[in-house]
Amino acid sequence: MISTTMRELTPDELLATTRSVRKRLDLERPVEREVLEECLRLAQQAPTASYAQNWHFVVVTDPAERAALGELWRKVAGPYLERRAAAAAADQRVARIGDAVRHLAEHIHEVPVHVIPCVEGRTDGAPAGVQASRWASIIPAAWSFMLAARARGLGTVWTTFPLRHEREAAEILGIPYQRVMQAALIPVAYTIGTEFKPAARKPLDTMVHWDRW
Ligand SMILES: Cc1cc2nc3c(=O)[nH]c(=O)nc-3n(C[C@H](O)[C@H](O)[C@H](O)COP(=O)(O)O)c2cc1C
Repeated sequence: MISTTMRELTPDELLATTRSVRKRLDLERPVEREVLEECLRLAQQAPTASYAQNWHFVVVTDPAERAALGELWRKVAGPYLERRAAAAAADQRVARIGDAVRHLAEHIHEVPVHVIPCVEGRTDGAPAGVQASRWASIIPAAWSFMLAARARGLGTVWTTFPLRHEREAAEILGIPYQRVMQAALIPVAYTIGTEFKPAARKPLDTMVHWDRW
């Protein structure tokens, strides 16, 4: 394993501090291929339905491809920010996320690595249960990748804006759209500083149902 300068996190700290990083991505520092491969090998330890291992990760470092994906990202981020302008004016938390989204929109093409987790087999229009088992064959792996990245001083954020233009993203990257679905675009970079705090969350009893809803 490649050593990092960040202190070792306990498993609980890792789970509590793997945050959506947008403003603290170091756009200057390259990310070593070996570190990405370590994270991807750990991601492969996640489960897939029926042992299918029908997952793929497209790791994008090419500047022209990142620029093209950045355009797709911005096409959706712009209207999203406009729609949320009134809510942002009324609520500081919404405003804070909006600021971070705007920052990433301006710099997405400069983030050194974009990772696109994909899964084989399209489920467009399929019943929810079918969709759930297909998506759950890639999302746990992608989250493992993000946790492994955090453990190595890398920051990530789950983003779905470019999925609105999934077919165009597939063309940019040569992904066979007819048989492969993209789950996200995860920008990856070393973080500026390595300390992150747990986020505020609703009280547990507002979301946990013991025995009955
Ligand atoms: C399914 C999903 C889709 C998301 N899509 C985007 C996105 O397209 N762009 C973005 O900047 N953040 C995206 N996010 C990140 C959320 O906005 C983020 O979780 C939010 O900022 C709250 O962060 P918190 O964990 O600190 O509460 C997404 C997160 C999830 C889980």
